[in-house]
Amino acid sequence: MEDIAWGTDAELTDEQFYNRKQEIIVLKSLITSSSEGSSPTIMVSGIRGIGKTVLLKKIKKELKDDYFTCYIDLSLTSSYQMGKLTETGIMEHLYDCFMEEYESKKYFSTFKRLSKYFKTKDFAISDILDAGGIPLPVPKTSDNYKKLSNFVLDLPQAIYEEHQDQIKGTVIFIDEFQVLRDLGGKLDSFLWFLRSVIQSQKNVIYIFSGSLISSDSIISKIAGSEGAFGGRMLNVEIHPFTKNTVKAYLKDKVPSLIFDDDGFERFYKCTKGIPFYVNTFAKLLVRDIKLDEEKVRDEFQRTLPYLAIHLINQWSRLTMQEQRIITELLDGPIKRKDIALNLGVTSGSLSNPLNKLQDKGLIKSEGHYYVISEPILEAWLKKEYQEKKVYPFRSI
Ligand SMILES: Nc1ncnc2c1ncn2[C@@H]1O[C@H](COP(=O)(O)OP(=O)(O)O)[C@@H](O)[C@H]1O
Ligand SMILES: [Mg+2]
Repeated sequence: MEDIAWGTDAELTDEQFYNRKQEIIVLKSLITSSSEGSSPTIMVSGIRGIGKTVLLKKIKKELKDDYFTCYIDLSLTSSYQMGKLTETGIMEHLYDCFMEEYESKKYFSTFKRLSKYFKTKDFAISDILDAGGIPLPVPKTSDNYKKLSNFVLDLPQAIYEEHQDQIKGTVIFIDEFQVLRDLGGKLDSFLWFLRSVIQSQKNVIYIFSGSLISSDSIISKIAGSEGAFGGRMLNVEIHPFTKNTVKAYLKDKVPSLIFDDDGFERFYKCTKGIPFYVNTFAKLLVRDIKLDEEKVRDEFQRTLPYLAIHLINQWSRLTMQEQRIITELLDGPIKRKDIALNLGVTSGSLSNPLNKLQDKGLIKSEGHYYVISEPILEAWLKKEYQEKKVYPFRSI
């Protein structure tokens, strides 16, 4: 039976999860071999759709019996969803996630002991909600931010100390790290603060992740030599599946896709081995028909709107100027001064939009040139133009 995940699935079954053996070994050994006082801080990076989230969730699942593990998706912070990420919002979100995990670990018998800790930290439990018989302390968030954040960020270590007879340590996964860009001018101080707390915790391992590549400005703010974590952060970059991996994967999971050699080459070219696209395209391709190069090309055009759905969403939220910069890049690599010339603006005025587009992973700079880094967006825009003779600058 076919068993491949949809591109939007965040948690895969063991049958659906493919490969990544090396990455799992590396990450798990970094976590389990860390001894008291030398917990590593890890960054799992890679472009969107490469499989970071499903990898983190798989590792979490494998560690959850021996560790207090907590997975946090920063993009679900309510202040971010409501338009503006705030530091307090992040802390409240972390707190909710810690407590949810705490509940699921069924640590209630020792909850009383932990609640003593809340008091010593000058944090009265303002409310005890009875969530299905589970006590849930709610801190007074009206307190100032510093106090709240110290309290929240100390929790993982406190939880470990209370339960060290049952667990080997605490592992905190913080995903969608790139949304911290939303903090704007407060990003630096937030990162430095985070680092100072993390550094003092002996039994907590932090694994950050996000759709970032090493050239992103936020990576250098964190892991660069001048960044908050200096050289102390280990970067594990997740790469696309190789051609051989994709071939073996499809043969194993979707045997009813019948490629000839050129058809498969074309499939790999369209998806670039990025698991999100591999899965989505494989799900939508016709079964039991010989897929030669031409057929795969036609199918790619037919299914593009589905493959590109999250990119179309992102595109529609760009400013007109950002959209126009991208269309300038469709004819190939181009220098900043030529983009400026074509758009009739000064080169200086392009810094902001160019940075934003790079941070979103839509474009990248190579030497003095800018190029599109999302092949599917490029293919979709070209198709739109071909069909409508105009780029979709305005959506209805
Ligand atoms: N190891 C894998 N095996 C099979 N499918 C995968 C794998 N990694 C990723 N995928 C597919 O790609 C999709 C996107 O993965 P995800 O972890 O959400 O990417 P990221 O977090 O890097 O943006 C998943 O929903 C799944 O369909
Ligand atoms: Mg993800």
